[in-house]
Amino acid sequence: MKASLALVVLPLVSASPTWQRPQRNQTYPGLDVLAKRAGLLYFGTAIDNVVLDNEQYTSIAHNRAEFGQVTPSNGQKWMHIEPQRNVFNYTLGDQVSEPGKAAGQLRRCHTFVWHNQLPTWLTQTTWSKDELIAILENHIRNEARHYYDECYAWDVVNEAFNDDGTWRDTLWLRTIGKEYIALAFQFARKYVSPRTRLYYNDYNIEKVNNKSLAVEALVTDFLGRDVPVPIDGVGLQAHFVTGRTQRYNQTVAALKLFTQHGLETALTELDVRTVLPDLPEKQEQQAADYTNSVQACVDVEGCVGVTVWDFWDPVSWVPETFPGEGNALLWDAGFVKKVAYYRVSDMLRGYA
Ligand code: XIL
Repeated sequence: MKASLALVVLPLVSASPTWQRPQRNQTYPGLDVLAKRAGLLYFGTAIDNVVLDNEQYTSIAHNRAEFGQVTPSNGQKWMHIEPQRNVFNYTLGDQVSEPGKAAGQLRRCHTFVWHNQLPTWLTQTTWSKDELIAILENHIRNEARHYYDECYAWDVVNEAFNDDGTWRDTLWLRTIGKEYIALAFQFARKYVSPRTRLYYNDYNIEKVNNKSLAVEALVTDFLGRDVPVPIDGVGLQAHFVTGRTQRYNQTVAALKLFTQHGLETALTELDVRTVLPDLPEKQEQQAADYTNSVQACVDVEGCVGVTVWDFWDPVSWVPETFPGEGNALLWDAGFVKKVAYYRVSDMLRGYA
């Protein structure tokens, strides 16, 4: 059971726009420590392989007080795991999951089926339906053997819907048809440890809209079949924009779309990007956006945890994906914790 909120929630935007860094004698036990006290299973982060030679980075990434769970940002995507047909390479995934395990951090596996970051051998051949189903099963079987019991949860299918709720036009849909999602979950359940939670994961489903309702329809279809399709959770990626983030109530309602069916949920890729140049006022707004998002998960029974999509601004995916935007994470380029870090910490402390 989650604790109830003991302190009044901070105002959306602080009265004073000039934020003072906390005094040294104030203690900040770490986000995962506080998240657990507030009833979550973990507060986690994605980790990118490109910075693993930076000791300052890895010492925070694998600091269990801050992060109780780690997810490889890229290392378990198809192009890295099966770069040639039936040739498997777990190096990049292991570079994140092995130190995570050694540090006592949970791991999330990301992701079996997606339309991005696929190897060219897969995308540049025309497959028959049966061939592609066999390729899918072979991929899942092999990777599941390697990470069998390693992951708390696995993003089995990623981003299968368009914003209007229609099915995204992908290699998988075109060649296999809509059953590809059910097949992926069935293969995952067959080969991954029975303890691993199987998730559907997507973005722009953090409020009730055509897309989140389409995901809910998928869930009700799966659970309502004579032989239910095994699905345990829905991940809300939560890639947000400063000042345009879903409000607390919207995120709560979206989470409940799935928990009402008995599934668990999580915020799986939280970041809040800012249109540059950044300003103190924008950092305050960003802090409120982070805080409201994390608090929505804390307040919904069945939302098990929050993962930030990395924690250090220089490695965020944002600048290259959204030109002109950035500063989306909790630590700045100098490894200094930003106001958003402290606001999330303060909010979590209110539940202890
Ligand atoms: C991103 C990575 O962070 C980048 O490094 C990579 O270049 C592209 O993919 N949704 C997802 C993640 O599910 O896998 C994506 O990660 C971000 C959007």
